Amino acid sequence: MALALLTLAFAIAARMRAEGTKRQHIWPMQKGFGTRNGTSPYVMPDISKGPAWSWQGPHLDVFRAGPAMDDEMNIYVTAVSGRTYKFSPEGKQLWEHFTGPARQGVSGVPSMGEDFLVMLTRNGYLISLDLETGAERWDRKVAPMTGLSCDSILIEGNLAIIAVADPVPPLVALGVHMQVSVENNVVLGIDLTAGEEKWRFFPAMECYNFQAATIGDGSFIFTDKTGAPYRVTLSGEKIWYTGVTDRNSATTGAAVIYEGKVYTVSNEGGSHQTAEEGQGLLSMYDYETGALLWKVKLGLPGMQAAAAGQIAGVPGPSLVIGIGKNPGAPLLVRASMVLPHILTLLLGLPAHLLSLYFPHLFAWKQERSIAAFNAQTGALKWWYRLEPWQQLSCAGDSEKFLDRYKAMESGENPTNEPMCMPDANAQPVIDAAGTAFVPFQDGSIYAVRDENGDGQISPEEIKARRVGDAFQSSPAMGPGMMTVVDCGGRLEVFK
Ligand SMILES: *[C@@H]1O[C@H](CO)[C@@H](O)[C@H](O)[C@H]1NC(C)=O
Repeated sequence: MALALLTLAFAIAARMRAEGTKRQHIWPMQKGFGTRNGTSPYVMPDISKGPAWSWQGPHLDVFRAGPAMDDEMNIYVTAVSGRTYKFSPEGKQLWEHFTGPARQGVSGVPSMGEDFLVMLTRNGYLISLDLETGAERWDRKVAPMTGLSCDSILIEGNLAIIAVADPVPPLVALGVHMQVSVENNVVLGIDLTAGEEKWRFFPAMECYNFQAATIGDGSFIFTDKTGAPYRVTLSGEKIWYTGVTDRNSATTGAAVIYEGKVYTVSNEGGSHQTAEEGQGLLSMYDYETGALLWKVKLGLPGMQAAAAGQIAGVPGPSLVIGIGKNPGAPLLVRASMVLPHILTLLLGLPAHLLSLYFPHLFAWKQERSIAAFNAQTGALKWWYRLEPWQQLSCAGDSEKFLDRYKAMESGENPTNEPMCMPDANAQPVIDAAGTAFVPFQDGSIYAVRDENGDGQISPEEIKARRVGDAFQSSPAMGPGMMTVVDCGGRLEVFK
């Protein structure tokens, strides 16, 4: 039955292409589509039974970009090194593309247009690849460089909406400060025919993990690093900007649009400079006016945008978020920031190696939770406390740091990054049966549903799949198929 439906869907997709009808991809960008609400019209399989197939990215590459899925259920993943892979739904690799050291790797998430995939490199090149062959259609330098946050490209009509750094801070341009200190300070509208810049929009504050959202009405929403949302037209003119009083607030989250409202996750009293995360806020704004309608204090940092949709056992629309502090850097990196080189080697290195064997001795327990709120009122529907995370860094980062660093320094894999440093969790997604899926820094994806609707998540109502390393990217959902890639490049496909 499922097979017959799929065959039919492929036949329709092929005919639509033959007739020149627009292709409708299944999961063309981070969180699925422009609204970024993260819902799918399909019911997902039981992930705790394990994947139908998996693949391991080579070269110890870090993967932060989530999988994308085209109209034939082919899967695309991109590593931060700049390597992109296409797989058939059965797991056959169809092509590979590499951006190369001159243009550098890709720190964010590519997006899919009708017959192309667009990515932005760390040296500011926008590259368009042919979906069928992986061949480059064009590339264009659109900015001097980009920040190293995990930005998601928005494609709307013939426009790509991206954030870049231009101008670059003088000390970075002079080579005194490193690219890691660069923040994206301008939003560009780029025509996708050949990469020509149409307009630029300067937000009041820089952006972090830029991820614009749209309902397809000729405008888009995004937040800057304080969590304050903007609504801007597709020709780059501001419609509204809410402003923020707390300039030290910080977010790595994004905005989600759902039923005439805009939802943001941010942190009050935090700062990117001091890596303090502050206290999480979940806020709702009116889409038309930008008026703040309510905000809920989370009591713990909230680092990623919500998913918005119908969830099992909860009447009305809900918001699902992951909550908890972000992982930190491996011990050796911390040591190198405070100790002179020789002491880093003499003290930092042995301590780092020790931290790999006894990670719990080197970190305090960090609370983390998954929670659901009513999307209209902000009322709490359930709050599930996961076992606290007690390691300095996320799953995989400390373990792989030395090997990645060596391969970068030796020139073997120069476009990789030495660690993933993801957020505490990836953005949740919700399937058609109302199951919420939340990947966490411990390397597991949690599938949660309040089956009996009692406002509590009991152990039988949460299923987990341990993939391996932590996650920055959300799963992609297609007809009876879910796919996710962890920071270490393990791609799992569930059917
Ligand atoms: C959620 O987003 C999808 C994709 O953009 C859209 O089709 C759907 O209508 C949205 N749901 C609601 C209730 O806004």
